[in-house]
Amino acid sequence: MVGVRFHSRSKHILEIDEFHKVVFDDFRNVRLYDRADLVFADPPFGIDFKGNLQTYHRKPDALSYVEVSREEYPRFIRDLLEWSYSVLKDSGSMWLLSGWNNLRVVLDAVEDVGFIQLNHCIWKYQFGVFTRRRFTTSHYHLLLLVKDERNYTFNKPEHYAEDVWYIKRPYHHGERTAGNELPDELVEKCIRTSSNPGDLVVDPVLGSGTTMRVCLKLNRRCLGIEVNPELERRIREKLQLKSPSDTHGM
Ligand SMILES: C[S@@+](CC[C@H](N)C(=O)[O-])C[C@H]1O[C@@H](n2cnc3c(N)ncnc32)[C@H](O)[C@@H]1O
Repeated sequence: MVGVRFHSRSKHILEIDEFHKVVFDDFRNVRLYDRADLVFADPPFGIDFKGNLQTYHRKPDALSYVEVSREEYPRFIRDLLEWSYSVLKDSGSMWLLSGWNNLRVVLDAVEDVGFIQLNHCIWKYQFGVFTRRRFTTSHYHLLLLVKDERNYTFNKPEHYAEDVWYIKRPYHHGERTAGNELPDELVEKCIRTSSNPGDLVVDPVLGSGTTMRVCLKLNRRCLGIEVNPELERRIREKLQLKSPSDTHGM
């Protein structure tokens, strides 16, 4: 098994071990030396800060979340999909999350870039934000994309595997989180289904490190990329690593 190898100008790297690394940079500046088996991406949703972000529990004040403006969003999503397509093996897959507001933009980009949609799953969660004059949003879209319809990994999780998933959000009582952390259970289901032990998983919009935590548990190699250096603290906390100040002088 080869280690995780990449190129980035950023000197800000968190190396958990040879097979698990986080680089703090824009994913567009990162190149991989080896192609990946799976990309898992839960990008910003490109919705206005005031009002709309709340729909999805995404708060700009939660540990400096980096959003993308509505105007920039089509370019951003296209860059993310093109980048992901280029880093994947021909047999590779991508899980891409989206809210409903910009789904049209996302689906157009998926098709233009050349991905094939294998599934359009729905994650139904609890505690959607209360609304008065419209239904409460309580779902996300999870797109399962492949490059080659005849050659991809699919470890079916159960005999009758449906595309609507009821998974609870974790409740972080009193904890300072990144505001939009996915439940491990959800990420685990995607990673188990579309990769095998030893495979290389890349998360180009890592956030708090959920994908890394799941990859460590499931024995997948992982490269996480996160543009916001402020999140190192939360990532270390989630992975139960020492903080940088504790490691100085060791
Ligand atoms: C929705 S969050 C990911 C949450 C993650 N799934 C978790 O469970 O914690 C999206 C992340 O993408 C990051 N991001 C935004 N633009 C980026 C870029 N160009 N390159 C890398 N990361 C970016 C944001 O800072 C944010 O942390």
